[in-house]
Amino acid sequence: MKKIYLDNAATTPLDSRVLEAMLPWLGENFGNASSVHSYGRDAKVLLEDARDTLAAFVGALPSEIYFTSGGTESNNFALKGISFNRLGFTPDGEELRKYHIISSAIEHSAVIDSLEYLKNRFGFELIYLQTDKSGRINLNELEEKINDDTFLVTVMHSNNELGVINDIRSISKITGGRKVHLHTDTVQSLGKVRLNMKELGCDTATFSAHKIYAPKGIGALYIKKGTNIDKYIHGGKQERDRRGGTENIAAIAGFKKAIEILKQEMQSDIEKYNKMRSKLTSLLNETLGDSVIINSPPGNETVNPDDTYLPNMLNISFRPEKIKRDPETILIKLDLSGIAVSSGSACTSGMIQPSHVLKAIGYDDKSAKSSLRISFGRFNTESDVEEFVRVLKELIN
Ligand SMILES: Cc1ncc(COP(=O)(O)O)c(C=O)c1O
Repeated sequence: MKKIYLDNAATTPLDSRVLEAMLPWLGENFGNASSVHSYGRDAKVLLEDARDTLAAFVGALPSEIYFTSGGTESNNFALKGISFNRLGFTPDGEELRKYHIISSAIEHSAVIDSLEYLKNRFGFELIYLQTDKSGRINLNELEEKINDDTFLVTVMHSNNELGVINDIRSISKITGGRKVHLHTDTVQSLGKVRLNMKELGCDTATFSAHKIYAPKGIGALYIKKGTNIDKYIHGGKQERDRRGGTENIAAIAGFKKAIEILKQEMQSDIEKYNKMRSKLTSLLNETLGDSVIINSPPGNETVNPDDTYLPNMLNISFRPEKIKRDPETILIKLDLSGIAVSSGSACTSGMIQPSHVLKAIGYDDKSAKSSLRISFGRFNTESDVEEFVRVLKELIN
């Protein structure tokens, strides 16, 4: 059975060129970047080259990039680091009063769970902005809810289930004017749309390498120069004393290579994603008609910072009355047929729970549980898309 992987938003396979770039750092170049001898110096050179490479790719200064263990840590670092910095007293003894955080209802759990912790453990006040049907927040609502006590706004750049992109530039105009810290999670956007930190105007931003054909367990946090943020992982003085722990040099070498590849190939990747997305949309319309609802509007064709949808994702759901099997069975059978896609529900404590994102954009439990996310990658072909639709048609009928 040929296996087809259409779940690249969950993680991507390692590009063989990335693996090749990593191997020397898993072999003869094993030095610790903090050591002063030649082994350490070699690792340090690689580390700083990687920082320069990522910084240049996202329009940041090298000194604004901090390597972490991935997207989850970067979100924790930013949200807790900023919030803890606002706890207690200023250096001149004045009590800090700001305690209000604003986020959106469709954030990744690495953001939501961090915020809930801050609220429950430290009493920060927290509100989630609702979104429109496409998953975008309403800027007027943000203007209404932001107040003198707000110190942090966190809104994801693109959503991992729908592919919708929020207008971070406009959000930053609202937060920047009030000196409120703006954090954004760009994990799904890196490599799919052009990102420029200065243009976006955010204060911190999260990156993860395993969505761009690099290994898992490596990511970065952009921290704008001059930002007051507490250290989150205490230990050594690595990462300019902002994140303790010996750097994962082999993974950082892979991250660097993945960015270098994107520099050359991002436009062609995007064209490929778009072709597959259009093909999937038309095949679904032709062969499955109104049994399937396509939840994502058409994507972008260029590397355009004003895009509103990621090009590599399509979210669909089934009309239960039009299909012969129940949607959960279809998902299981797709997996048994060797096709990997993601469903709009997650298994929590043995119970299938509908996605909070789909519920936030207005789905009831039943339709949220019947949705699928198909996400394309560099190594997919149009025949993967054809095969997916063929199998889906068989399962539905
Ligand atoms: C939007 C978003 N943020 C954060 C993460 C977490 O990143 P990591 O897996 O590197 O911890 C993910 C992973 O799926 C994601 O999609």
